[in-house]
Amino acid sequence: MAVRLVILASGRGSNFSAIAEAIRQKKIPGAEIVGLVSNNPEAPALLLAREKGIPTTIIDAKSFGRGKLFDRASYESALIEVVHRLSPDLICLAGYMLLLGESFLKHWPNQIVNIHPSLLPSFRGLRAQKQALDYGVQWTGCTVHWVNEELDGGPIIAQEILEVLPQDDEDSLSTRLLEVEHRTYIKALGMLCSQAYQIDGRRMRWNP
Ligand code: GRF
Repeated sequence: MAVRLVILASGRGSNFSAIAEAIRQKKIPGAEIVGLVSNNPEAPALLLAREKGIPTTIIDAKSFGRGKLFDRASYESALIEVVHRLSPDLICLAGYMLLLGESFLKHWPNQIVNIHPSLLPSFRGLRAQKQALDYGVQWTGCTVHWVNEELDGGPIIAQEILEVLPQDDEDSLSTRLLEVEHRTYIKALGMLCSQAYQIDGRRMRWNP
């Protein structure tokens, strides 16, 4: 039976695309992307998915109000309904820019995965590459992790490192890191889809 992946994306979609291409090339054995859901009708990720023949759904977050008037509960119940219909085994966040609330998390415990462009637990939240540069770290990297109620705080699945070069600015570091992100996400999904694992507290046990 295929491992059913649902992608949540808000923007560019390069991680999604890399995952889809890896699946096409059979580099993530057993995996199938059964849908991409976006909160942003303008997300380039939607076009990429359509080109690849992957079903897309838009739940326009802005139609649920903006700022303080954002009706998170209604947005989230719409999202739950759509994702539920896709019967995911794993939900992969790929540049999904909204926080997932408790109601969503409790539907899919230990089934939601994210990629973050820093070596967690350093530099959580937005513009992690800039945070790393501002801090002056000489090595940074990316982290694939389980999603829990804490921002970028769930147990770590996979990490890779990247050296910060003296001439790096936010753009160049982000560009170089993106390549590392793609291969780390593919590797992590490969491990999750093809190997037995247990989550032991904060630690992954492979082939327990
Ligand atoms: C990536 O840097 C990812 O780590 C972060 O958001 C960015 C999404 O890029 N969570 P893309 O949409 O996958 O190209």
